[in-house]
Amino acid sequence: MRVLVLGSGGREHALARALARDPAVTSLHAAPGNPGIADFASVHPADLSDIAAVSKLARSLAPVLVVVGPEAPLVAGLSDALRASGIGCFGPSRRAAMIEGSKSFAKQVMADAGVPTAQARTCRTEHQAAAALRAFGPPYVVKADGLAAGKGVVVTQDLATALAHAAACGTTVIEEFLDGPEVSLFAVSDGASALPLLPAQDFKRAHDGDTGPNTGGMGAYTPLPWADPAMTGQLMGTVVQPVIEELRRRGTPYRGLLYAGLCLTAGGPRVVEFNARFGDPETQVVLDLLRTPLAELLAAASSGSLAGAGPLEWSPGAAVSVVIAAEGYPAAPVTGAAIDGIADAERVDGAYVLHAGTVRDGAGHLRSAGGRVLNVVGTGPDLASARGTAYRAAARIQLPGGWYRSDIAEDAASSARA
Ligand code: AMP
Ligand code: GLY
Repeated sequence: MRVLVLGSGGREHALARALARDPAVTSLHAAPGNPGIADFASVHPADLSDIAAVSKLARSLAPVLVVVGPEAPLVAGLSDALRASGIGCFGPSRRAAMIEGSKSFAKQVMADAGVPTAQARTCRTEHQAAAALRAFGPPYVVKADGLAAGKGVVVTQDLATALAHAAACGTTVIEEFLDGPEVSLFAVSDGASALPLLPAQDFKRAHDGDTGPNTGGMGAYTPLPWADPAMTGQLMGTVVQPVIEELRRRGTPYRGLLYAGLCLTAGGPRVVEFNARFGDPETQVVLDLLRTPLAELLAAASSGSLAGAGPLEWSPGAAVSVVIAAEGYPAAPVTGAAIDGIADAERVDGAYVLHAGTVRDGAGHLRSAGGRVLNVVGTGPDLASARGTAYRAAARIQLPGGWYRSDIAEDAASSARA
């Protein structure tokens, strides 16, 4: 099977690595890819915001399956264009991807499907926003309605900061604050059936102890030793299946990866957000443990033939990913810094390095090209050893100004030992 992966981050590097392991994959392509993905796939230049050009590239490569990594091309209708060209695509249609593309649309779907989420108000004026903030009280949660590349949400105790974010966003969703541990649950869906992946936890705040600004995610781990083993099945029944069913009922079946970001509150699980694609950096740990061949799974989902597929198979053990970020991330990442030490990091037994924001310069040297530069993945029989491996490897990476959180999976690793 010929497969094309679209995207250029750590998530797509993890996807390419997992797809390359599937014996059914005879040829693997990526666009635009990155220097790490180039070890697994033939890479092709591409601007994913140019749907016509990407469709043309896909037609010329004629893959059986295209796997779309990031959300923006999905929300812009890339998978509709590919399907119209007769190319199988793992990624929802433009209308189904609105579950990520518009927070107010997602709230409406959840209301219609009876899915528990934070109470919220959609606000179109500063006056409405001020009234909603007063009604919910602190901590204030203010979300831009549309796509914002991980920067649309402000959670703050300070009313002036909340009002300023609402004013800057235009249409906002203002909602009640949810308190509790967060879980990322991914499900592969063919529009009718859905299969869950292992739940993971992401670390969204920039700094240790969950302080600092929200980021795209600074690290992740799976499995969750503290979670009830029945949790995934319950979340499939109360969150994922009702949403898949509601989108099908509306005539916009969801074929792709449905990512439910959940908060486990004292009153039960509540949806924080949906994403229309694999999460980053959770995918890096979840796919590490996946044993079921990935290309066949995603191809079955894209062609509507997931019914009857058995539960997914997983390796025992644990995986931890630590994001190496550029100086200045998330506000103003510095790019162009030289990256060294990857081979040295990969000499740590059980560790490997995924490229998230890298390029090769004219001399062939690796340089940073984004805010999140590398993902160091550590694996092991349990979380404590996977975590130790990830951090031993991360310490061998040299990136001037680069930094990472030191507490990824720390609490979970000690709870697993307890
Ligand atoms: P989102 O883009 O909606 O996932 O929000 C990004 C992050 O902001 C989430 O992962 C949470 O950490 C935080 N957040 C979003 N909504 C809420 C909420 N209602 N209560 C508490 N934290 C929230
Ligand atoms: N890890 C958060 C995201 O992918 O949106």
